[in-house]
Amino acid sequence: MIRIMKSRKFTWMISTGFVIVFLEISTAFGQVGTEMMPKIVEKNGRHALLVDGQPFFMLGGQAHNSSGWPGMLPKVWSAVKALNANTLEVPIYWEQIEPQPGKFDFSLVDTLLKQGREHKVHLVLLWFATWKNGSSHYMPEWMKHEPTKYPNITGMNGNPVDSPSPHTQAAMEFDAKAFTAVMGYLKKADLQHTVIMVQVENEPGAWGSVRDYSPIARKLFEGPVPDELLKPEVLKSLKRPVDAKGTWSEVFGNDADEYFHAWSVARYIGYVAAAGKAVNPLPLYVNAALRDPISNPSASTYESGGATDNVIPIWKVAAPAIDLIAPDIYLSGTDTVLKVIELYNRPDNTLFVPETGSSAEYAKYMYEVMAHGGIGFSPFGIDDNGQGEGEAEIATRLAPLSQEYAMAVPMMRELAKWGFEGKIKAVVEREDHADQTIDLGSWQAIVSFGAAGWRTAQTNKRPIGKAMIVQLGDNEFVLIGTLCHFTFKPLGANSGKAWQYLKVEEGQYENGTFKLLRIRNGDETDWGGPRIGAIPTVLHTTLTLR
Ligand code: DGJ
Repeated sequence: MIRIMKSRKFTWMISTGFVIVFLEISTAFGQVGTEMMPKIVEKNGRHALLVDGQPFFMLGGQAHNSSGWPGMLPKVWSAVKALNANTLEVPIYWEQIEPQPGKFDFSLVDTLLKQGREHKVHLVLLWFATWKNGSSHYMPEWMKHEPTKYPNITGMNGNPVDSPSPHTQAAMEFDAKAFTAVMGYLKKADLQHTVIMVQVENEPGAWGSVRDYSPIARKLFEGPVPDELLKPEVLKSLKRPVDAKGTWSEVFGNDADEYFHAWSVARYIGYVAAAGKAVNPLPLYVNAALRDPISNPSASTYESGGATDNVIPIWKVAAPAIDLIAPDIYLSGTDTVLKVIELYNRPDNTLFVPETGSSAEYAKYMYEVMAHGGIGFSPFGIDDNGQGEGEAEIATRLAPLSQEYAMAVPMMRELAKWGFEGKIKAVVEREDHADQTIDLGSWQAIVSFGAAGWRTAQTNKRPIGKAMIVQLGDNEFVLIGTLCHFTFKPLGANSGKAWQYLKVEEGQYENGTFKLLRIRNGDETDWGGPRIGAIPTVLHTTLTLR
């Protein structure tokens, strides 16, 4: 066995007879080897993203759409720094990567890899290709010149719709070839897995028509529903009789148009994803423009065919190479957003929020994503997009999340592991500012929301408070929060008994151990506390009966 230690570590195992060469390279940032491939794992219906073999939570930030260019990146990195992010989501563009058919240019990908490593930040690459927000504006110019060969869909009345047809074999083959070239390039150029996940397309689906009404689409629509969708478990998940069969309209009634488009788009993207995955099995996902998850609106009011909550089962069947479907959360209202989180967190779907707002109203949901065993959270558009924002303005804009990330970064591995193990519970402040409770076996936590005044809580003006509790033992918890205060009540056999804090330690987990800043006591725990103000705080807390 030979070991060479430089900036990289090489481990060679050579055994003769059979010659086995085992090569393991690790760098200061990321490790090489198939066993170190980023991957999604599932246990008891919960998920984790493994990076370097351990659960990883993406404290992410997404760059603006046109910021993946070298001249734009300095502003992106300064926003990443202001945000304290550990992961940058950044687009790569089909139009730039394949300027002529079959001629690939990976210079921008190279720049991103190099700079990601310099900044010690992981990358999620966003493959802007056939679909970008429902249109095909990132198709290379040589395709845009041939609209008949690479057509858009046709509306119900024959009207043009600015959305690519999912029924075009030629475009699908070209997209799959280009995506495979990207994934193959990453396999060679990114041995240390700077890139931990890839988004395939962007918010696919169609605005302006529920489906394609071109002659080819009409013919398919009038044909039978494919067998894959007629499996009893699939029909059941789509709330249809398990023995249903026939045409799209016969099986799916009023939902037929939307379901047909979802199937068609998902099949196309599933093909592209499978081709790329065959050369480089990085985790792949599709992001979804959402529909209101509560009111069951008409598909004509949202991006039809995309992976909205009602068609997740169709996407799962049509695109098995896609590891997860991720909601872009721009909807507002606590009930609505919590419903989205619930619907996209399924035993067959890992929760990841790749886009959301950066205000405090959105930041609070990071706690819920962690509690649901999600693998990442990311505001969209972190960098200055030509508005001339200075560093101070960017820092102010990103503050609600950069403060949370500052708390979470040193203990990211613990949070990711606790989330995977189901040890985290969270509550967020609702519009009525009411107290929330969390049941913890023999204790109940009561979380109230408000700024941390001495003795009296001051009500928050906006519903932005949040709390999470990690259960480490029967009486041992980690309390984390912003603009909230905690108190407890014994439950079950101990119900009604007196209790007290054994110890409330404020501090931070670093490199796996808790570092004490101070023991909180007196005013800092009495009078219905501990209270936490605007700065996210970590309290290692033990409780005892009196
Ligand atoms: C959602 C898209 O996925 C992003 O690329 C970007 O266009 C945002 N919308 C803009 O709000």
